Amino acid sequence: MTPFGIRARLKKLLNRAPSQPARPPVVRHSVRFVLPDGTDYETQAKVGDSLVLASGRGPAPIATGCADSTCGTCQIEVLSGAEHLTPLTDAEAATKAAKGVPEHRRLGCQAGVLGAGVSVRIINVFGEEANV
Ligand code: FES
Repeated sequence: MTPFGIRARLKKLLNRAPSQPARPPVVRHSVRFVLPDGTDYETQAKVGDSLVLASGRGPAPIATGCADSTCGTCQIEVLSGAEHLTPLTDAEAATKAAKGVPEHRRLGCQAGVLGAGVSVRIINVFGEEANV
């Protein structure tokens, strides 16, 4: 990498293709979030984005309380598309057990989007009083 992208600029000026191959297109999927009051919104998620990250692109993000998946604040209920979320990890299972998270809920910071058709209910909305 040259400073200020000089190499790429020179190649562009000389009509030579850059040496790096083109990146594959980024695949995004819509995710539907249902709020505790019944209203909903949709955002786009790249493959692998967590539900917390995807909800942050909307008006009412999932509440979070840690950065290491140990607090259990970011609980969600999967309404549809569970097969298009990353599987439960040992860390998520341990946090769910330690915090008494009901079996049917996932942690939004650990559940990643893999495909289309995911719809979830947010239990705790960022900035609002906790429901759990
Ligand atoms: S933000 Fe703490 S467990 Fe998800």
